Amino acid sequence: MSAAPSSLREGDDPAGDDVARDAYLLTPGPITTSFATKAAMLHDWGSRDPAFIDMTRRVRRRLLELVRAERDHVCVPIQGSGTFAIEATIGTLVPPQGKVLILVNGVYGRRMKQICEYYGRSHRVLETAEHVPADPAALNSVLADDPEVTHVAAVHCETTSGILNPIGEIAKVVAGQRRSLIIDAMSTFGAIDIDADEVPFDALVASANKCLEGLPGLGFAIVRREKLERSKGNAPSLSLDLYEQWRGLEDNGQWRFTPPTHVIAALDHALTELEEEGGVTARGARYGQNSRILLDGLQDMGFVSALDEDVQAPIILTWLNPADPRFDFQVFYESLSRRGFLIYPGKLTLAETFRIGCIGRLGETEMRATLDAVHSTIEEMGVTDCSPKVR
Ligand SMILES: Cc1ncc(COP(=O)(O)O)c(C=O)c1O
Repeated sequence: MSAAPSSLREGDDPAGDDVARDAYLLTPGPITTSFATKAAMLHDWGSRDPAFIDMTRRVRRRLLELVRAERDHVCVPIQGSGTFAIEATIGTLVPPQGKVLILVNGVYGRRMKQICEYYGRSHRVLETAEHVPADPAALNSVLADDPEVTHVAAVHCETTSGILNPIGEIAKVVAGQRRSLIIDAMSTFGAIDIDADEVPFDALVASANKCLEGLPGLGFAIVRREKLERSKGNAPSLSLDLYEQWRGLEDNGQWRFTPPTHVIAALDHALTELEEEGGVTARGARYGQNSRILLDGLQDMGFVSALDEDVQAPIILTWLNPADPRFDFQVFYESLSRRGFLIYPGKLTLAETFRIGCIGRLGETEMRATLDAVHSTIEEMGVTDCSPKVR
């Protein structure tokens, strides 16, 4: 699929051929969205009106269906970015006497550790290097040795690098050891399939503005109903209490506090686009193709990826900075930005890197245009060798 330029500015003629476009967001989110998804926000909704209550109910149901979790789980949306939803989930599901084992191989694993510190929840970390996936066997032995651990928190795709953690195997180990699994599926939900029957979890957390191709401002957790029912009073926060948020929605369909009405309407539309595209498998295939085009094209130019291909998720790619002294990330970024492509700085601690995302309403045409822009930029900078200092 090749998505059409999709972001219009005020005054542009959507029917015209020469539409000025917003920059493509080759980032881990917010991402480029379709014109129709943005246009879905062009109304005002009363938050207590039946039309909006229905919309919330529909979006909650559709999100549950995406992971086939309708039988045992409920979907609890929460205002804010993805971190708000992760914080609400840990704060609500982990009781004060609980202990969390966090699998860390990047920033988002470390963020869950930070949340445990803020909330005073006992925790420990099982860490692998940023280019190495979490290790289910090591997890199994830590759980066997530490009966105090009640919850395991794992990141599906660690967006710091784009590495895919083996969530199916992790879930099996956690279920086998009879602990509770919390999955941060922020950057995979909607593109890399998880089936609640095959990957048992007590909570899976994501947000509207990544692979679902919705707008930022809304997170959600898919939580095992029976665990949520037993979590009343755990949350140390008023607004980030998933149990109370859920009770409010169940009692009268209304949000406890002002909902991001427009963002929910946009997500409702974005979910229809996901269906029309062919669901999670088709979206994952488009991102896979995007990723392939970028990997081949950048490698042909001499860039070296920070990850081995067998652990790379088709979400975001991390590249080692060229050793050529004429390469300067800020100049590279600004030059690409002028051409209409926004990339991301690297976040790895092990090397100087930059990242290029392959999610959002973008397809083959935009990926090839990205490669052309990188090529012209490198030439303009006078960089003749894109290989890095170290491998
Ligand atoms: C895996 C993962 N977890 C958590 C987050 C945090 O989300 P937010 O920045 O929306 O708070 C992100 C954001 O990129 C992410 O990729």
